[in-house]
Amino acid sequence: MLAMMKVLVLVLSLFSAGLTDDEINSRYFPEGFKFGVANAATQIEGGWLEDGKTESVWDRFAHTHPELIADRSTPDIACDSYHKYKEDVAMVKAMGLDYYRLSIAWARILPTGHADKVNQAGVQYYKNLFAELKAANVEPMVTLYHWDLPQNLEDLHGGWLDETMADHFAEYARLCFELFKDDVKMWITINEPKQVCQGGYGTGLLAPGVVSNGVGEYICAKNVILAHAKAYHIYNDEFRATNQGRIAMVIDTTWYEPGSDSEEDQEASERILQFNFGLYANPIFIGNWPQVVIDRVAQRSELEGFNSSRLPSFTDEEIAYVKGTYDYLALNHYSTNMANATADSPIGDPSYANDISVLTWRQPEWPSGAADWFAVVPWGLRHLLVWLKKTYGDVEIVITENGLSDTTGIMEDDHRISYYQGYLSACLDAIYEDGVNLSTYTAWSIIDDWEWNGGYTSFLGMYYVNFTDPERTRIPRKSASWFTNMVATRCLVDTCTE
Ligand code: NOJ
Repeated sequence: MLAMMKVLVLVLSLFSAGLTDDEINSRYFPEGFKFGVANAATQIEGGWLEDGKTESVWDRFAHTHPELIADRSTPDIACDSYHKYKEDVAMVKAMGLDYYRLSIAWARILPTGHADKVNQAGVQYYKNLFAELKAANVEPMVTLYHWDLPQNLEDLHGGWLDETMADHFAEYARLCFELFKDDVKMWITINEPKQVCQGGYGTGLLAPGVVSNGVGEYICAKNVILAHAKAYHIYNDEFRATNQGRIAMVIDTTWYEPGSDSEEDQEASERILQFNFGLYANPIFIGNWPQVVIDRVAQRSELEGFNSSRLPSFTDEEIAYVKGTYDYLALNHYSTNMANATADSPIGDPSYANDISVLTWRQPEWPSGAADWFAVVPWGLRHLLVWLKKTYGDVEIVITENGLSDTTGIMEDDHRISYYQGYLSACLDAIYEDGVNLSTYTAWSIIDDWEWNGGYTSFLGMYYVNFTDPERTRIPRKSASWFTNMVATRCLVDTCTE
């Protein structure tokens, strides 16, 4: 089989920039290792009010806060995938991928957010999409919630700050499990809860834009975790036996490399990882919040004059209910920072960043990837995978997002090829050298899309999309053929070894 694949090797320049030949792992990806690409409803679908869909918090946010979107754009049309999904599936098929990760827009299925009124046109859209994927022999990996809360739930209940959200999400999840039980086996409850909570209900820079630093994000975190757990239990109790699929929550983190091997810097790195990743992963994989988070938020809350910790506690019953609600560990990862210990921030207004009190920075020699939030540091992914194994045990890891953001959008995207090559090489190192149980790699993204605050100015696609063309024409960049070839050969260099 592998010999046959080698014949498929296209003549491509593999080493355009970045890592050298020697540094790229030349082993084949293991038999059974899966590749996919990811996207999300708000970012590609468009059809924002079409066929019964209602506004999500991101639709509202983009329309009412254009100053917070780089090009003052909206996701009203985006890539128009609501009409062009067949083209998207054809591209995924042509790349020879195992998976297509997509999300369901809650407000397309349930216009009020509540489960009493189901929008059949919305259901049909996803049914058609799943049928198309099935015909293409591509498996859907489906996120139930990728940030697009129905605006009605925000207006009525205050969104993720309200305890009833776990029930609303659970009803929506149950409906999707039932509606799509014959179509989907790989489920994701919620994407990147940290961004939902910190950006949405802490800094207010993401939708719905609630500013409640150091308070809102922790209340949100608890509600999101309980919502995830409820959906997991519904799946487990009512659908697992017949659906025979798997379910998890996607958690994201940057890797934070200790600035030195001093005890303080090691602790600083661990602390920021626990606040970023552990806050969401610990309750699920270990039980309860990380101790360092419990201690620091309680201590600072007291000094700030609060009567109890700003971090809501879980009851023993809740801890037991949430613990173990995973079938795999789903990770989104893009970049790395250094982390150094620093003096605790002075007591004053509460804030999540002050709770952490870690100095982060980037090595000047790290390539920036042409987007300011981004540094290209492949070994950071390897270190993160090893840390995950050490912290959460030998759990199967699925990389649900990884990719390069740039601000140029150039078609000869050698820097993206180099990024994928380096990060995929780090995956091979983790698998073969460190024994990490990594089963799947999902690239973000197959096409350029509406990048939240970045609007249409931040490019992550292996296909360029012309957003000024009503047809939203998709054109492959150089990276699309590199990635296609890599999937076919399961190899990152010209000649691989078993
Ligand atoms: C993570 C988010 O899940 C996704 O929606 C976003 O587009 C990518 N990061 C890239 O910024």
